[in-house]
Order: sequence, then C-alpha cells, then structure tokens
Amino acid sequence: MGEGSTDTPQGVGHGGIEIGHVPVLLKEAIDFLAVRRGGTYIDATVGLGGHSLEIAKRLGAPGHLIGLDKDPAALEVARAKLTGGDFPRVTLLQCSFAEVGERFGSGFADGILADIGVSSLQLEDAARGFSFQAEGPLDMRMDPRSERTAEQVVNHLDERQLADVIYEFGEERRSRRIARAIVRSRPIRSTAHLADVISAAARPMNQAERRIHPATRTFQALRIFINRELDDLRALLEAAPRILKPGGRVVVISFHSLEDRIVKDAFRDGIKDRYFRVLTKKPVTATKEESDRNPRARSAKLRAAERV
Ligand SMILES: C[S@@+](CC[C@H](N)C(=O)[O-])C[C@H]1O[C@@H](n2cnc3c(N)ncnc32)[C@H](O)[C@@H]1O
Repeated sequence: MGEGSTDTPQGVGHGGIEIGHVPVLLKEAIDFLAVRRGGTYIDATVGLGGHSLEIAKRLGAPGHLIGLDKDPAALEVARAKLTGGDFPRVTLLQCSFAEVGERFGSGFADGILADIGVSSLQLEDAARGFSFQAEGPLDMRMDPRSERTAEQVVNHLDERQLADVIYEFGEERRSRRIARAIVRSRPIRSTAHLADVISAAARPMNQAERRIHPATRTFQALRIFINRELDDLRALLEAAPRILKPGGRVVVISFHSLEDRIVKDAFRDGIKDRYFRVLTKKPVTATKEESDRNPRARSAKLRAAERV
C-alpha cells in the first residue's frame, strides 16, 4: 500500500453503523492518476472518501478536489474525512457522474477517478435494501431522491421485462425461471423474502454455482437497472475526453464484466479517434495480499487512459 494509505478498516460511525471500509486498488489508482500538486481532480464516486483522501493529500492547499456521489449519506461521511492542514479546496456535489458533461467545461480537470458500484455504507445498512443477507425494505436506490425503487420493479414489471432485466444486467441464465417465481410470489415486500423466492426457484446446478448465493446475480441486476449504472458509466466516459486537460488521466475501477466491457470499448474508441492513450494494456487487478485482506477487491479491474 502507498504512503499514508488506508490499509486497515476505518471505524467511521454513521447513523450508529460501524463501517469497515477499505478502498480497493488504492495505490494503483493513485499511481495511475499521477496526482499533481495544485491540480483539479474529480472523484466521480467519492463514497466514503478513501480514494479522495489520498488525492487530497497529494493535491495540497493550492489544489481543488471535486467529489461526486448520488448518495447524500456517503457525502456526509466523506466531508468529515476531507478536512485537514494542507488540504485542497473540496467541493462535494450530490449528483450522478453522468452529469459531468453538463457541469464541467472543456479542459477543466487534470484527472477523473471512478470507483463504481456500491459502497460498504450502502451494502451494510439493511435499511437501504441492497443486501440479500439481511432483512430490509426493497429499495436499492443510491440516490434517495430517485423514483424507481426495487419494490416497484419487483412488484410491477411484467414477467418478460423482469426476466430481461435479470438476464441483461445479472447475466443470469435462470432469469426466466426466477422472473416467473417472483411474479407468482407477489407482493414481495422485503429483501429476505425476495432472496427466499429466488433461492427456491434457482437451486444451484453445479459446484461452481454453489459458491455464490443464488440471489447474487438477480440482486446485482436489479441494482444496476434501478440506478441506471451502465448508462451513467457510458455518459461519464463519453464526456471525459472533453473535460480532461491534455495529459489528464481517467482511471476507472469496475467490479463486473458488463462495466469492464464498457470501459474497454470506450478506451478503444478513444485510441481510434486519437484522444486517448491507454495506460493499461490489460486491466490491473488486486494482488493476492489485497484480495485476501479485502474480498471485495477480488473482482476489481482497473483501467486507465491519458488524454492526448
Ligand atoms: C465503491 S463506492 C466508492 C468508494 C470510494 N472510492 C472510497 O474509497 O470510499 C461507489 C460510490 O459511488 C456512488 N455511485 C455509484 N454510481 C454513481 C453515479 N452514477 N454517480 C454518482 N455516484 C455514484 C455510490 O453511491 C457509492 O457511494
């Protein structure tokens, strides 16, 4: 881990919850960003501020750090962390990173970091409805102002639409069977109820499937659909080349193949159209040591590109 980095879980209290948050691929992300003292950097997914804190330390007082998150609870935690002696000006905005194209002008930033997906704050708070391992309401919204909740999707989409969502965003081969079981069990009112319905419908067929909970892919699919995660990522990557200064860098950490494919394709287009130089031939993954310490790091893939 890099100098001053966070390699032990931090006990950040929020609403009575103890959060063990360990930023993923921290040293690698900071190295690829090549943070310049006094520069302007956008952390598109500030979350609990783990990556932002390292960026802030390197930016120093003359710098400017803009932190975005859809989740106001995350911004509150990050705000408390991002103050200190030689710290840059910090601007935290509750918005989607899909809005960067509208919010920032050409050549605004020296670097953009996106560490996409859910935070431990969201996963570990049963009341947010992200986890199939705890009883909670069917919510799954990163932005509590947005209208679409898991409750609406699970109870109101027709069977075919539901199966398509589960297949497309969860890459779940048993999507039709799961959608049928969900429709038959309506109304479904909690995460635990939904997880039980899925488990009964989709028993693991082989040893490999036994390793993950039968509801994993369906919950992932619902979360991606509800939060429009893939569309947001495409919008961010489309806007990034314009917002970056020449020599500025974009670093993306993703957690499943659907996201990684979008990043890979956007960078490939960037090479073709001569606005990106790709810095990672293959995605960077966590070391064994990091994966052992932080299971979430196991599926992380980092890609980086430089504006030419
Ligand atoms: C994996 S966490 C980031 C953790 C952060 N790097 C840290 O070290 O604490 C991802 C965060 O991104 C936010 N997020 C996900 N998609 C977003 C989007 N489209 N726009 C803004 N924030 C988003 C989530 O709410 C969550 O807080």
